[in-house]
Amino acid sequence: MCGIVGYAGENSAASVIIESLKKLEYRGYDSAGISILGSGIDTYKSVGKIVNLEATIPEGLSGNIGIGHTRWATHGRPSTINAHPHTSGNPCKISVVHNGIIENYMALKEQLTAEGYEFKSETDTEVIAHLLHKHIYGKPDGREAKCELLTGLREALKEIEGSYALAVLCADEQGKLVLARKDSPLVIGLGKGENFAASDVTAFLNYTRDVIFVNDFETAVLTPNSVEIFDREGKVREKKIEKIEWDFEAAEKAGYEHFMLKEIHEQVSAIHNTLAGKVSELEGTIDLKELNMADEEIRKLSRVQILACGTSWHAGLLGKYLFEQLAGIHCDIDICSEYRYRSPVISDGTLAIAITQSGETADTLAAVREIMSYNCPTLAITNVVGSTITREANSVLYTRAGPEIGVAATKTFSTQLTLLYLLAVKFALSRGKLSPDYVKGFITGLRKIPGQIQQILNQKEAVKECAENFAHSDNYFFLGRNLNYPIALEGALKLKEISYLHAEGFAAGELKHGPIALLEKGTPVVTIATKGQTYDKVLSNIKEVKARDATVIAVADNKDTEIGKYADVVLTIPPSSELLSPLLSVVVLQLLAYYTALARGCSIDKPRNLAKSVTVE
Ligand code: AGP
Repeated sequence: MCGIVGYAGENSAASVIIESLKKLEYRGYDSAGISILGSGIDTYKSVGKIVNLEATIPEGLSGNIGIGHTRWATHGRPSTINAHPHTSGNPCKISVVHNGIIENYMALKEQLTAEGYEFKSETDTEVIAHLLHKHIYGKPDGREAKCELLTGLREALKEIEGSYALAVLCADEQGKLVLARKDSPLVIGLGKGENFAASDVTAFLNYTRDVIFVNDFETAVLTPNSVEIFDREGKVREKKIEKIEWDFEAAEKAGYEHFMLKEIHEQVSAIHNTLAGKVSELEGTIDLKELNMADEEIRKLSRVQILACGTSWHAGLLGKYLFEQLAGIHCDIDICSEYRYRSPVISDGTLAIAITQSGETADTLAAVREIMSYNCPTLAITNVVGSTITREANSVLYTRAGPEIGVAATKTFSTQLTLLYLLAVKFALSRGKLSPDYVKGFITGLRKIPGQIQQILNQKEAVKECAENFAHSDNYFFLGRNLNYPIALEGALKLKEISYLHAEGFAAGELKHGPIALLEKGTPVVTIATKGQTYDKVLSNIKEVKARDATVIAVADNKDTEIGKYADVVLTIPPSSELLSPLLSVVVLQLLAYYTALARGCSIDKPRNLAKSVTVE
């Protein structure tokens, strides 16, 4: 998500940090900032490009210890105030850059505010700066350090829930910067008379290739001539020095051949971030305060109207099934380019949900404006903080997937689905359709999904082999029933977008009403055949396909001993509930599309004729 950098050396920290931040530009960002440790701490921030930040920094700024940040907003809109570093103390005593999400920041903010700390930004990160200040200086106007920065940091981290990679400066500790990590990447670069820190190695690859990867719960102290790493208890850790062999382009993709493959892998952490702070497994509750809807209002809803395009529309279609099956709320879904011209009837008690990863899709914005002109309350689900939709909708839920660079949506799709699951279950709870005990089980299952996605990724060679075997096909079909129907549509869209193969997704039961005429000997038919209420029907569909000599590639549970009798190829997922298995099946289909495009030599991250964000009608 955000990019962090740190420098301790003999050169101008400002120059090195600006160069390092430029190397992180490819990740996408909306603002940037630096802090330099001199006699005090000087901080400069700006929205937009790094060149804007450069323009704010006085020429010849001295100081050779510093930290920097490129922000990709998750809490609070893009603005200079929300840009990092965040500081505490007057004059500034503490400066922090952060990548990650602090889940309990609201509670900490209330507590620190009551203790006299003044918050300037809307970010979760500012609580870290004040919390650290409190542990080191005792109170907001405390001037004398009561403990060392590292000790204060360790104490503060005990109170923080969530994910973080942190780089911290303290005005009273010259010559060093301090680091900490949990669930967000952090790497240290070792130079001669200088050391570096960053959220990814691309930041300092021009300076050194010798690195140490910081692990969860480790802290580190960097000076120009030393690097010390400590475990959770404060004991020094001996760490292996590794050599980075990647060239710059490979390093941008963290060694993956394409951004799309990197982003498919990032679904593990992206879903984790989407869920952060929203579910309580212990109590069986779902907290969506951004929705701004009391239970009473949720109970009064008579209809949900989903508006979206492309992949986001597929997420919305699954949402429709969830709202109706779980919460018993009538749900319609429209393609936005159709919605605005079809004279829709909007009844009282309707909630509109607009789904758009970019928040800038022209058709989606137009449909939202149309429905809002009827005073229909509108919730946006998007990945981009500060995008147009976030300024127009009444409320916003963020997917928090981090920047998606590949044109084909992957991690934004699965995180959209994650939010739709949470919404539908929340609505069902409020309307008395599901019990807290059921919801506890649901949350347990949902929390397992990132690990199960990792298991699928560990077996990606099987999907690759399958993709290579069918990469020469002219046509590809995707079948699914019930919750897997939207996933079949998404599998077909992914394949056609990046491999330029003709691919169609169908509701499996619809096959015999026409599409079956297209089947020929050997036509690959990907069928989602995970266990559930329609499993037997799907087996019948598979037999229909086999009877036409087409080839069946089944996506099935790895415990399924029956499916192998009917399908030609079986690609497996770990067993999950019928409800949640679409979050797993889609990963197999994303990999299938990716490896097919790879085998066909296509331009995977930038497919022909497509734009990441379609801002024209
Ligand atoms: C997905 O792979 C496509 N790039 C496309 O269908 C996309 O989902 C569609 O253009 C909608 O974009 P949005 O989510 O940014 O509104």
